Amino acid sequence: MPLLTRAPAGERRAAGGNLGPVTDFAIPQPLTSHGPARVVALCNQKGGVGKTTTSVNLAAALAEYGRRVLLVDFDPQGAASAGLGIASHDLVTTVYDLLMGSDVPTKDVILPTSYENLDVLPANIDLSAAEVQLVGEVARESALARALRPIEDDYDVVLIDCQPSLGLLTVNALVAAHGVVIPLASEYFAMRGVALLVDTIKKVQDRLNPRLTMDAIVPTMYDARTLHSQEVVERVREAFGDRVTDTMIHRTVKFPDATVAAEPILSFAPAHAGSESYRRLARELVARGAVA
Ligand SMILES: Nc1ncnc2c1ncn2[C@@H]1O[C@H](COP(=O)(O)OP(=O)(O)OP(=O)(O)O)[C@@H](O)[C@H]1O
Ligand SMILES: [Mg+2]
Repeated sequence: MPLLTRAPAGERRAAGGNLGPVTDFAIPQPLTSHGPARVVALCNQKGGVGKTTTSVNLAAALAEYGRRVLLVDFDPQGAASAGLGIASHDLVTTVYDLLMGSDVPTKDVILPTSYENLDVLPANIDLSAAEVQLVGEVARESALARALRPIEDDYDVVLIDCQPSLGLLTVNALVAAHGVVIPLASEYFAMRGVALLVDTIKKVQDRLNPRLTMDAIVPTMYDARTLHSQEVVERVREAFGDRVTDTMIHRTVKFPDATVAAEPILSFAPAHAGSESYRRLARELVARGAVA
């Protein structure tokens, strides 16, 4: 049963009004056919910058717009699975088994969520062993790409929620992906480490996955009341220009509240400005061609 109810239009406009956007992005056209998916990795080796929150809520917003979405939980913490209400710690088969070349078909590991159009490929602590175990394997960087290939025609968008590292698992995500989206917290030291991340993306482009593009940098945890947040975003825009999305995700306690409730903010508080900002991000990424 779909739980991601759309708030009435008037309410949505009121909520969006707080965000101060001058322009808006068109509501995406309904899709008449589905697949093959564009695969997008959400990466930043810095911890706690909003990767999982962005993965879960972007997935939910795209599902609301009628896209068939698969969220790949690629962090042994299982936060993306939990964020969609899937308790993954007791699961017998997870993305880990697919990486390890198990005979289980990928579609049998994917779980439906309580949200229409939104499935999850779950992860749990088992995944923490994969990094070491993959090292000795042939084509160790393309284990995730191999696992996703059989189901890519079933979805319009596959989002990969990466763990905070630039290790072999993240390289696997970059090899499986068509595009990368970088959530960047609007706070001091946000830029620290971004050069290394961009360098890693370039190396993967050169050596393993020439189709990979850096689609967008999304300012998260933006606090309009502080000059500091504004200055950080200005610096990020100077450095990365158009790659930085017009949509910024503001800092609000509703996000941790939704995390505790194990729900996307889009179902936890559908009319909240935080929900509207992820809907807007979804529209912007569709307009940019980053997703279907
Ligand atoms: N815009 C926001 N405003 C306030 N809190 C937020 C916002 N976005 C995320 N949070 C909260 O900040 C914490 C970290 O966010 P999240 O888990 O999405 O980051 P992450 O980059 O995935 O972290 P990790 O690197 O550990 O995987 C969570 O408690 C989340 O609820
Ligand atoms: Mg996370």
